[in-house]
Amino acid sequence: MINLSNKQIILGVSGSIAAYKSAELLRRLKEAGANVRVVLTTGGAEFVTALTFQALSGNPVHSELLDTKAEAAMGHIELARWADCVIVAPASANFIARLAQGETGDLLSTLCLATAAPVAIAPAMNQQMWANAATQKNIRLLDENGVLQFGPGEGNQACGDIGPGRMLEAEQIAQLTADIFHTGSLAGRTLLITAGPTQEAIDPVRFLSNRSSGKMGYAIAQAAAEAGAIVTLVSGPTALNTPPHVDRINVRSAQQMHDAVMQHADKCDIFISTAAVADYRPVHTADQKIKKTQNTITLELQKNPDILTDVAHLENAPFTVGFAAETENLEQHAREKLQRKKLNMIAANLVGEGLAFENDENALLVLTANTKQQLTLTSKFALGRELIEVIARHYQAAS
Ligand code: PMT
Repeated sequence: MINLSNKQIILGVSGSIAAYKSAELLRRLKEAGANVRVVLTTGGAEFVTALTFQALSGNPVHSELLDTKAEAAMGHIELARWADCVIVAPASANFIARLAQGETGDLLSTLCLATAAPVAIAPAMNQQMWANAATQKNIRLLDENGVLQFGPGEGNQACGDIGPGRMLEAEQIAQLTADIFHTGSLAGRTLLITAGPTQEAIDPVRFLSNRSSGKMGYAIAQAAAEAGAIVTLVSGPTALNTPPHVDRINVRSAQQMHDAVMQHADKCDIFISTAAVADYRPVHTADQKIKKTQNTITLELQKNPDILTDVAHLENAPFTVGFAAETENLEQHAREKLQRKKLNMIAANLVGEGLAFENDENALLVLTANTKQQLTLTSKFALGRELIEVIARHYQAAS
């Protein structure tokens, strides 16, 4: 089954009779869980109306490069940043030529230049046009520039010719789109990841906790599974669904998280500690609900075990990645944690009002003993994928 859950995809539709298949492709991408926005060229709109794509995607269709309404909502730069990938299907000979030349005369070609996300084209044209030396030269140029190519297929064409140039079927394009995210960079590796908050019971109805939603850790778990890893996620209480192909162990307190992690840690290749573990827990947990009889009460706290430190100090410690949540002096505090806890890597984020905790977006400063890499503000899903690729590179170098 094709899985594109939590993926943000731009479907570009340029002028070709194959545009009628784009409606089916859009349906397939949506069924696979993607959030899709359609960018329609003037040529594409000659074949299928914006209304069709709007109804199927549930999002407004984008067409104008300089549209004052769109600029206020989602202009080409925002669209370019929003996208996890851009799929142009159909890509006409004319669109391919414009993209190869780096033209910026319309919204679709401009955002293909402006995005850092992977761009793929599904060519669709007459077989003679496909075979033409100019088209083949443009295709080579796009290949050199890192543009992915889906197809074309061969067979009967709308014009009556037979040969290569048919746009691939919707199902094939949807599968190739999903394959973009399946990097294989951690194929067969075993990952243990913690996520979410812990809750430290005060009495049967109250607890100490923090603002962690689990979004960052779950996004990392999803990215790791897509990279081919066997993933176990030890999660504090969250409202999130388990990512596909991830085994989840639910815990509540730091002690429970510690026990679950230590049961699996010596069997994993990589440990990523994203959870916001409570540093302290009440010394006593009341058996009954504490009554409101006194004006002030004192809660005595004791230190929780440091899960990350205990894993990093195992005799056969896995490649260990910690997180650092800091309100100031990010690099300095993170470096100090990297050394003190004996970690292979630390991912540091600034936290505070509107930063990191609970948000859908985040930025990370990733440090090892002698490297430093800034992963800039983006969705936690995109950031999770970036971090997994960084971890995979360093893990391979260290093995
Ligand atoms: O869940 P979200 O809303 O998406 O927010 C994400 C996040 C902000 C929680 C996440 O990006 C993050 O920063 N997680 C680590 C939070 C934290 O507890 O940081 P810390 O600097 O206090 O701890 C340092 C490291 O030690 C962390 O890897 C932590 O998991 C680990 N730790 C801490 C205490 C403890 N008792 N055991 C631990 O393993």
